[in-house]
Amino acid sequence: MFTYDQIFENNKRWLEEKKRTDAEFFEKLSKGQTPKYLFIGCSDSRVTAEDLMGAEPGDVFVHRNIANLVPNNDSNSASVIEYAVNYLHVENIVVCGHYFCGGVKAAMESRDLGVLNPWLRNIRDVYRLHKKELNLIEDDTEKYNRLVELNVQEQCVNIIKMAVIQKSYLKDRIPQVHGWVFDVSIGQLIDLKINFTEILHSIQEIYDLTKDN
Ligand code: CO
Repeated sequence: MFTYDQIFENNKRWLEEKKRTDAEFFEKLSKGQTPKYLFIGCSDSRVTAEDLMGAEPGDVFVHRNIANLVPNNDSNSASVIEYAVNYLHVENIVVCGHYFCGGVKAAMESRDLGVLNPWLRNIRDVYRLHKKELNLIEDDTEKYNRLVELNVQEQCVNIIKMAVIQKSYLKDRIPQVHGWVFDVSIGQLIDLKINFTEILHSIQEIYDLTKDN
């Protein structure tokens, strides 16, 4: 662990290094951002968006919260998505979950977690939706890992239900929505290969929001 003061020392070294490789690096950054990716991940300190993707400043628009959720009535994630799609025109939206997720684990415990209850209930809802599959898994770790994956999948579905996504895709064929899991124990990023267009079509049977008044 570094001390508080070391952070500013680290920052000095970092900016010098950036300027050594590109003297105009920060001047270019100050002109604006055109990221192609929106990354929605967990707040977990082990799951850093840019590092694990090998991305540079300006490459990725990032939103993180406990257990990478996109609940229906959450204006925070909804604002991030709306801005990323309508103003930044991102081509890809990624929901990135991770194994060893404390949020997912906490959601499965029989405990009153106060203000966290309504937030974590979104994960219990994922479990309920996939109860049949999950209850067949006997090994606890395997079950927990599968819930992490299904949670990512359901958050992708939540994103695809949004009018902003459906309208943008109808008009410009972007963004694509992807589901990833980061395995903290080996550092590997796994693409769950969510079938975006198939989900979109099945969603629109009930959640079609593409028409204006
Ligand atoms: Co987590």
